Amino acid sequence: MKFNYSDPNRLAISNALIITAFAVIVNGLIFIFSPGKPALLLILPANLLIFGVSYLIFRYTLEKFIYEKIKIIYKTIRNLKLPKSADRTIMKVGTLDKVNQEVIEWSETKKMEIEELKKMAKYRREFLGNVSHELKTPIFNIQGYVLTLLDGGLEDTSINKEYLLRTEKSINRMIAIVEDLETISQLESSELQLIHSRFDILGLTREVIEFLEIKSKKKNKTICFGDNYEKPVFISADKERIRQVLINLIDNSIKYGNPENGRTKISFFDMDENILVEVTDNGSGIDVADLPRVFERFYRTDKGRSREQGGTGLGLAIVKHIIEAHDQTINVRSTPGIGTTFAFTVKKA
Ligand SMILES: Nc1ncnc2c1ncn2[C@@H]1O[C@H](COP(=O)(O)OP(=O)(O)OP(=O)(O)O)[C@@H](O)[C@H]1O
Ligand SMILES: [Mg+2]
Repeated sequence: MKFNYSDPNRLAISNALIITAFAVIVNGLIFIFSPGKPALLLILPANLLIFGVSYLIFRYTLEKFIYEKIKIIYKTIRNLKLPKSADRTIMKVGTLDKVNQEVIEWSETKKMEIEELKKMAKYRREFLGNVSHELKTPIFNIQGYVLTLLDGGLEDTSINKEYLLRTEKSINRMIAIVEDLETISQLESSELQLIHSRFDILGLTREVIEFLEIKSKKKNKTICFGDNYEKPVFISADKERIRQVLINLIDNSIKYGNPENGRTKISFFDMDENILVEVTDNGSGIDVADLPRVFERFYRTDKGRSREQGGTGLGLAIVKHIIEAHDQTINVRSTPGIGTTFAFTVKKA
């Protein structure tokens, strides 16, 4: 007989049969050595009784032992405080095979959770490092200007105002970084509630272009629409957040676009339920290796140049958060030397 170690009932039967077989042999020997009618009459019921009793003892002790152990495992892996009544259910459903399966599944889940926690810890470390790194530059600049002013620069009319203006610029930079960080943390803790409204995205884009006009003129860049859009394009979204998205994308195209003959084109495409908005520039483009990473916090393709342009690398991370909070998508395509296109969708009103 093959033992099935995962089923206490069958194990008890097997053991009881072994005991009974042994008893049969003993009884047989007794009969051989003292043959007689009463002995013959007694052998069959006696063996049945031995089988029954040993089966019950085995079954009871096995179940008690195994399920006492299983109960602890169950309680641990399910992290449950089980009521007394649940014991019987465990006994019924909890054959060892099932417990084995559950323990494997449990360990897989735990493994995944640990990986996730490790990733989060690494991310937090990197994030803190990045934040302090970004804040260090303006802080050291301010320190330098103030020290120079204290060391007599204050009386020197050729530098005193200039240094104060630079100090103010560094302070503004710090404020911008802190504001971006605040937005990111709000978006990530999903505290930020979107305020949906129906508005014309063409009108909003015109406002943004106007807002960035001085900057673009200063850098000799032109901003235009991809077509003669006449009719308003109504969408349903959080207007101020979409404004933020447009400002960042157009601002990026001004900052990182073609330094000589920069041109930014904004186009709208009707896609049944959504409107696809594209912001295209004719700049130097983004390398294929950098492309998937530009939406990461603090990621800048050309660190030196980006910092010189006043970039922290948080803009696109915020943009992505905002678009995803709207349940929409954003992507980027770029050809080095030709230009970059950022495309995002918004819901039609
Ligand atoms: N249109 C573009 N052309 C080329 N590179 C770009 C373009 N837009 C973004 N990038 C690259 O992606 C990086 C990340 O952009 P992002 O907007 O997140 O940061 P930033 O503009 O440098 O700083 P911030 O927006 O926080 O002021 C930029 O630093 C730049 O290297
Ligand atoms: Mg930016």
